[in-house]
Amino acid sequence: MNENGGKPKKSSSSSDGSGSDKQLDRREHWKQLYETADTTHVNWYQDSVSCSLDRIQDVAPDMTTSIIDVGGGGSILVDGLLDRGYTSISVLDIALPAIELSRNRLGERASLVNWIVADVCRFEPERTYEVWHDRAVFHFLLEPTDRKAYRDVARRAISPGGKLIISTFAIEGPFRCAGLDVRQYGSSEMADELGGDFLLERSETETHITPGGEEQLFWCGIFSRK
Ligand SMILES: C[S@@+](CC[C@H](N)C(=O)[O-])C[C@H]1O[C@@H](n2cnc3c(N)ncnc32)[C@H](O)[C@@H]1O
Repeated sequence: MNENGGKPKKSSSSSDGSGSDKQLDRREHWKQLYETADTTHVNWYQDSVSCSLDRIQDVAPDMTTSIIDVGGGGSILVDGLLDRGYTSISVLDIALPAIELSRNRLGERASLVNWIVADVCRFEPERTYEVWHDRAVFHFLLEPTDRKAYRDVARRAISPGGKLIISTFAIEGPFRCAGLDVRQYGSSEMADELGGDFLLERSETETHITPGGEEQLFWCGIFSRK
């Protein structure tokens, strides 16, 4: 188990209202959310993750493929990956209570997973991954500097030829989630964000029905790391 996910970066000054203040706010927000919310009733909850699993298996039929679920939270994606037979799974989240939730749910099987508590924008990977999966994390990054940091981390973390599978709210999707403002994406917007190191292979939209019965339009893209 890796609780830290690598070396921490030097913290930037917090006195200018950027850097570590922002990181702390973000971490605290998600920590409190997981400590207080019923996680099967949050808007993003899915009781079936077959779309993500099928996308992953489509690009990674080999069960030894190294996979990281970024912002995995309490998602049952990790359970599904284990059920399908994947043997190299990492789950990263900024909130320790989210990681604990998934670890407790998995019981003994939790030891088969590498757990990482880190802000993805400050993550310093000590290895590379062949598949990077992100459902509903990138769209929370409102600052261009955070999105650039995410892209730089993904570029370092994904091996050449590896896949980045990313789901965000679509252009017609919601403007807020989890009490936070979010951004909306389509293929050209995300290709612009990810820059020249990633090639969009395909994309699709899908409608997510929240536990409260609301429809949310998601966009999903599969990129190849050049
Ligand atoms: C909307 S939830 C989605 C959870 C999961 N991917 C799913 O589809 O059910 C967003 C998740 O991303 C995590 N998160 C938010 N910002 C993050 C960041 N900067 N670095 C890592 N995790 C983050 C949150 O703690 C939360 O678990």
